[in-house]
Amino acid sequence: MRRVGFVGWRGMVGSVLMQRMIEERDFDLIDEPVFFTTSQAGKPGPDIGKDIPALKDARNIDELAQMDAIISCQGGDYTLEVYGKLREAGWKGYWIDAASTLRMDQDSIIILDPVNLDVIESGLSKGIKTYVGGNCTVSLMLMGLGGLFKENLVEWVSSMTYQAASGAGAQNMRELITQMGQVNASVKSLLDNPASAILEIDRQVAQAMRSPVFATDNFGAPLAGSLIPWIDKAVADGQSKEEWKGFVETNKILGRSENPIAIDGTCVRIGAMRCHSQGFTIKLKKDVPLDEIENMIASANDWVKVVPNERDITVQELSPTKVTGTLSIPVGRLRKMKMGPDYLNAFSVGDQLLWGAAEPLRRMLRILIQ
Ligand code: HSE
Repeated sequence: MRRVGFVGWRGMVGSVLMQRMIEERDFDLIDEPVFFTTSQAGKPGPDIGKDIPALKDARNIDELAQMDAIISCQGGDYTLEVYGKLREAGWKGYWIDAASTLRMDQDSIIILDPVNLDVIESGLSKGIKTYVGGNCTVSLMLMGLGGLFKENLVEWVSSMTYQAASGAGAQNMRELITQMGQVNASVKSLLDNPASAILEIDRQVAQAMRSPVFATDNFGAPLAGSLIPWIDKAVADGQSKEEWKGFVETNKILGRSENPIAIDGTCVRIGAMRCHSQGFTIKLKKDVPLDEIENMIASANDWVKVVPNERDITVQELSPTKVTGTLSIPVGRLRKMKMGPDYLNAFSVGDQLLWGAAEPLRRMLRILIQ
């Protein structure tokens, strides 16, 4: 791959992508990495361990059209603005995108190669040039439960999510920490006094969280010490867009949009920093022994691991704090449910910025390069 353009490499997902590409020495395999910018054309690019040209204008279609592939982490508005113009100008290169804009287009593939390498390879052989990272919750679910889908064991899934602040953006992560600080500050002196009454502390915390000065510009509601059971805008039938994606994107990733598996649930924002967790009720097509289920899940890819359904290890391992910043996808709480032997309970955790965003893009570039 001669020339690869990078757009949006300075943002949160873009920075994680850069970090991973440097760790994996991906830039060694690219003859000419070219960095684009929406605001600083002509300035020096990032330090990636090799010489690169000055930053180019991310809205200059002629410059973009020189690339063999472009990776964009710039966001949906940028894709909307530039992608059509670039294709209309006759550009035939590969477009790899983190934004959702093009995900459900007929001429795009949603990329998650440990789960759907066959779908990606079939797209490549058909000449498809647009490859889009999936919604984070969907990708993390499939990284965890991919083994059950591969064995065609899943009749339907109910997924109740516990989504981190990072999914809403960098400003939201900051706001969550600001809220935590405001909660603490509102009762600091009472906390320092072991004799103070807990109900008085609670009353003052609730008062602080309900106060108009509590920082909620980004989330629109308190998240620290609370939760928000709605993510993204409303779509049809009372679903949020995040919940809708669970069904349409999962089936597109698996290449079974014509014969979809029902997936639905409630998507909830919680006060974790960058790991999304999910609790699943999985209706299996048949009763399969639990040890076989554990083997299927654990052997599906190199990153998923089964956490024994025991208290101590679950508390330690099935935890956003443990998983954050890593590619590990622990799946635990595996047990048959009271509804019957073909109902499986499961819980998973995964880093929203790694497998949920940057890593599938990086690996798609690798597939194109090799
Ligand atoms: N929409 C997701 C969230 C992140 O809000 O957590 C992006 O996939």
